Amino acid sequence: MSTYVIAIDQGTTSSRAIVFDHDGKPVSTGQMEHQQIFPHAGWVEHDAVEIWNNVREVIAVALASGNLTRHDIAAVGITNQRETAVVWDKHTGVPVYNAIVWQDTRTQGIVEELAADGGVDRYKERVGLPLAPYFSGTKIKWILDNVDGARERAEAGDLLFGNTDTWVTWNLTGGTDGGVHITDVTNASRTLFMDLEKLEWDAQILADFAVPASMMPAIKSSSEVYGHVHSSQLLREVPIAGILGDQQAATFGQAAFDAGEAKNTYGTGCFLIFNTGKEIVRSGNGLLTTLGYKLGDADPVYALEGSIAVAGSLVQWLRDNIGMISTAAEVEVLASKVQDNGGVYIVPAFSGLFAPYWRADARGAIVGLTRYANKNHIARAALESTAFQTREVLDAVNADSGVPLTELKVDGGMVANDALMQFQADLLGVPVIRPQVTETTALGAAYAAGLAVGFWKDLGELRSNWAEDKRWEPTMEDAERDRQMRLWKKAVTRTFDWVD
Ligand code: G3P
Repeated sequence: MSTYVIAIDQGTTSSRAIVFDHDGKPVSTGQMEHQQIFPHAGWVEHDAVEIWNNVREVIAVALASGNLTRHDIAAVGITNQRETAVVWDKHTGVPVYNAIVWQDTRTQGIVEELAADGGVDRYKERVGLPLAPYFSGTKIKWILDNVDGARERAEAGDLLFGNTDTWVTWNLTGGTDGGVHITDVTNASRTLFMDLEKLEWDAQILADFAVPASMMPAIKSSSEVYGHVHSSQLLREVPIAGILGDQQAATFGQAAFDAGEAKNTYGTGCFLIFNTGKEIVRSGNGLLTTLGYKLGDADPVYALEGSIAVAGSLVQWLRDNIGMISTAAEVEVLASKVQDNGGVYIVPAFSGLFAPYWRADARGAIVGLTRYANKNHIARAALESTAFQTREVLDAVNADSGVPLTELKVDGGMVANDALMQFQADLLGVPVIRPQVTETTALGAAYAAGLAVGFWKDLGELRSNWAEDKRWEPTMEDAERDRQMRLWKKAVTRTFDWVD
């Protein structure tokens, strides 16, 4: 029996391959960033061909650096940036347009058109989501409406759609030479097209969007053998056996398998997922209802999600667009030079505001500036904005579930930042806990794949791999916490109604 499982994490800024051993410990890694393409304000694209080439490369690097071959690998798991839409020609494998990224806001007009009949919540009961540019459905429609000849080719059955899980899987399994065209329930639940109860594409919604059903991948569980890697690839014949959208994968990697468990991932964006078990909970507080996971033929597990569009990407913006820092790590150095934010608040509504507001008309703002404020305060306010947004999402989770969360498991790049995690615990008023393995996204995909091929036997075994690394206890006085939240909420209102 092979001794490892490999996970491919096709993320927003980079693609990674991580090899895990049976204890869930990473043993080798490959990583490559891809280009972020910003053709206009509010537009964000990726080159899907670059992404596929990078995926192949990072697999090679991960295998080589661990001195491994395909014979050492029991299964491949895939996790991915969700919602990002790729449309390609099934005969040539060539995308008809760049991938439109989840952060892209160009489809606001499509949202307004569709919402004219029934409002933004017209499909929410069926799909768990409001109409918003965030989700894949509006992006597919934009491509069909705007790329020359795309609609005719789609209607003739020549085009395929996929999020990047589908794109990578189709290519890994042979592309034009018999590639399988599939997705899993978690990714499908981010399109606006999947019926939450039936776990099938909703023919009426597809028709309303004028998206041909023939473009859509088959919806599979998150853990089963979907196919094998094609003979032309390094991992040839290894089964591809797990797919989870990256936030759901992180939840799985955190062993938050049961109702009432939650995690928060601080990545490009920040996403809190709260497991609701077999129950489909419809949010009255701005959260999304989404699939948590589905293991083979077992019942699906549902979740509530608080999605925050901008977290780590605000630090990247300070580095790349403003030039205030030259490495992302410097933000922490600057922030630690001051005791507090000096009254400065940054609301990074670059893609409008997601949960709990869902305001596409919002745009970013820095408020509270005085002659006293300096770049250290700005750095601190940038980090704090993620903690404030998380507190608002947690309030929504508590209101929807009726049972307040008593602690929060965290992961993602920013959880290495001690001061931020302390501030997070202070603002939430509950402990914040970091696990020993913080690569939870890739780990979750590895787990889903490993379960399907018997590499791991059950969830109990996975749970026993989870171990705490560090815990931050809240120390802030209630009055100060309330004051901070009041100012934050006031800052948020300053971003509304900004798009003409
Ligand atoms: O919904 C978008 C999400 O899947 C992207 O995650 O890791 O790039 O913040 P991340």
